[in-house]
Amino acid sequence: MRIVSNTAVSLDGKTTLVLDKHEFLGSEEDRKNMSRLRAQADAILVGGSSFRNWPYPLLPHSDDLEKCDPQKKWLQVVVSRRMNFDNILSNFISVKQLQLLFFTRKDSCPPHFPHEVLSYSDDPTIPQIVDELAQRGINTLLIEAGGNLITQFIRHNLLHEIYITICPKIIGNNRSPSLVDGTGLDRFLVPQMTLKECRTVKNEVFLHYVL
Ligand SMILES: NC(=O)c1ccc[n+]([C@@H]2O[C@H](COP(=O)([O-])OP(=O)(O)OC[C@H]3O[C@@H](n4cnc5c(N)ncnc54)[C@H](OP(=O)(O)O)[C@@H]3O)[C@@H](O)[C@H]2O)c1
Repeated sequence: MRIVSNTAVSLDGKTTLVLDKHEFLGSEEDRKNMSRLRAQADAILVGGSSFRNWPYPLLPHSDDLEKCDPQKKWLQVVVSRRMNFDNILSNFISVKQLQLLFFTRKDSCPPHFPHEVLSYSDDPTIPQIVDELAQRGINTLLIEAGGNLITQFIRHNLLHEIYITICPKIIGNNRSPSLVDGTGLDRFLVPQMTLKECRTVKNEVFLHYVL
């Protein structure tokens, strides 16, 4: 399985100003780039916090959608401990091109949850999630999660490509989330990356690295 991430960051490497609010850092060109990556993917993964901040179907935009197989159905994967998604799941009713799949721990699984849930005795690990998606025939997994989950993929050596859009903004708050968060990586896990593409459009830089 090919596993890629796509993130828009400020000049100081932050992904958003505050944790509990969704902000578009990028321009229209960045959103087009995101749409093309979604069109290439079979599954798109976020964490619970990103899902609450942007509780909408993560699908390609209509012009990219038209170029895809009309039968294609994307899997939107949500990884969560808290599973507190009251009032937002109705946004997914009657979205035919998308199926939601939640990964959580057994003691967090709400009864009568209206979408498919896979629960584990402890927090689901990245290898467990990747194995499950591989068994379901997912060839390309796009991670649109924040730095917390991206770090977990890198730590397990399960992130193969990174797309980054550098946006001409400075956020400058040391509590703002960044591309890679959490406790950080051990020195020997710091990945060596190869630059595959560097594209500049107006004031933004689109980078594509392979790990
Ligand atoms: N600029 C960008 O391109 C971009 C992209 C993505 C996100 N963001 C922003 O970044 C911020 C969120 O960052 P984040 O790192 O907290 O993102 P996240 O993608 O929501 O990941 C963190 C959440 O994932 C769940 N989680 C993580 N590891 C887990 C595990 N092993 N088992 C079960 N659940 C697990 C938890 O959800 P629960 O809280 O539900 O338990 C946790 O709060 C948001 O403000 C978002 O809008 C920006």
